[in-house]
Amino acid sequence: MLLKLAGLLLLAAVVYANNSTDGPKVLCYYDGAASLREGLGKVTVADVEVALPFCTHLVYGFAGINPETHKIRSLNEALDLDSGKGQYRQVTSLKKRYPGLKVLLSVGGYQDLTEEKPFEKYLTLLESGQGRTAFVNSVYSLLKTYEFDGLDIAWQFPQSKPKRIRGWTGKLWHGFKKLFTGDSILDPKADEHREEFIALVRDLKTAFMHEKFQIGLTMLPHVNETVFMDVLLLKDSVDYVHLASFNQQTPERNPKEGDFTAPIYEPTDRVVGNNIEAEVKYWLTGGAPSSKLVVGIPTFGRGWKLADDSGITGVPPIRTDGPSPPGPYTGIPGRYSWAEVCAKLPNPGNANGKGAEYPLRKIGDPTKRFGSYAFRIPDENGEHGIWLSYEDPDTAGNKAAYVKAKGLGGISLFDLSNDDFRGSCTGDKFPILRAAKYRL
Ligand SMILES: *[C@@H]1O[C@H](CO)[C@@H](O)[C@H](O)[C@H]1NC(C)=O
Ligand SMILES: *[C@@H]1O[C@H](CO)[C@@H](O)[C@H](O)[C@H]1NC(C)=O
Ligand SMILES: *[C@@H]1O[C@H](CO)[C@@H](O)[C@H](O)[C@H]1NC(C)=O
Repeated sequence: MLLKLAGLLLLAAVVYANNSTDGPKVLCYYDGAASLREGLGKVTVADVEVALPFCTHLVYGFAGINPETHKIRSLNEALDLDSGKGQYRQVTSLKKRYPGLKVLLSVGGYQDLTEEKPFEKYLTLLESGQGRTAFVNSVYSLLKTYEFDGLDIAWQFPQSKPKRIRGWTGKLWHGFKKLFTGDSILDPKADEHREEFIALVRDLKTAFMHEKFQIGLTMLPHVNETVFMDVLLLKDSVDYVHLASFNQQTPERNPKEGDFTAPIYEPTDRVVGNNIEAEVKYWLTGGAPSSKLVVGIPTFGRGWKLADDSGITGVPPIRTDGPSPPGPYTGIPGRYSWAEVCAKLPNPGNANGKGAEYPLRKIGDPTKRFGSYAFRIPDENGEHGIWLSYEDPDTAGNKAAYVKAKGLGGISLFDLSNDDFRGSCTGDKFPILRAAKYRL
């Protein structure tokens, strides 16, 4: 009898500890496509399970929408659906072992790139009641079928064009490729789309009421909130607003200017608004409750090739020449998982490296405001020069501490597949997640 009671109490304690409505949120994003990578870059559902005791939410990405029917759809049916490998079911089944964990599906995220203009179908869908209804109904039945707990809306609104850093000479801009060509006006029907987006979120809320599905709103980098978001009319309909305040400066958008990619505060004379503090201020000033704001922490770094005229100090902003070469696991130019960044930093493994193996010089961030960077100036042949802005366990911890000090709703890890899930850097698995959670 006593034993039974003790057992019940224990069970209650476990369930309580897993109650994600208590305390700050930790949204752990997982890009399911990472399970399709080759070799050491492959990250399976089983690999991310170790992280779950630190997460309140597992957010599985990314679903897309069908431009004809406006319905939500898996971007990889052979991987996600029961008719294929059933990865949707695998992630939602994790709730059996982690009873407090909420598992959400994310739509958009600028990963739904099947059309030339990835934002167009996201705007067209908004424009008719029929389109919105088709979307809402399809989301409801997908969530219900696969036992998800809600939807993370990472809506693909058009992204603002890159702006040059203040105080830099025009000379730099010769030969700048026009990656973001087209209309000088971002979206001529922006006012309508803002209204219609509110309607969509409200319709989702109504449809979700009975099942208590959660709704999260992810603000993707370079989606202008002033243009597309009505904070006052959205705040009550969503469970959280996730500020994905990273990729502020990237080698794709800013091939000629290397700079901090995910600063908490604005470094002197940079593009206004491209930092966490500015985003948080925007939403708080607009009337969003601080408890709903979730700050995104990237687990990847961004890298640029250095050129002959980059100078030798490494101090950003710095002249660059496009993305640096891809890493061995993730294979994307100018983008590295934390394990890939770590392998480039000074450590016993590469102490005697040459050329591309030679370790970078690491510059930490004692100010706790902008993040770390590392660089290697080009060799005598003008090769192997690289400049890297990245998150590490220390700077991730600084962001969590910022969230705690401001009384915000929590953090996100974006994403688990780019944290060091094998523990190849120091032996600890998911070191960025752990460090952030520790300071939250
Ligand atoms: C979680 O905590 C909230 C508030 O503390 C409470 O209302 C809710 O019932 C709890 N949920 C579970 C499943 O224990
Ligand atoms: C949630 O529950 C599981 C076991 O059911 C446990 O291993 C885990 O540590 C718990 N999470 C937290 C945050 O306490
Ligand atoms: C966002 O839009 C507002 C209003 O049109 C504009 O003043 C501001 O410069 C824009 N911000 C960015 C980063 O483009």
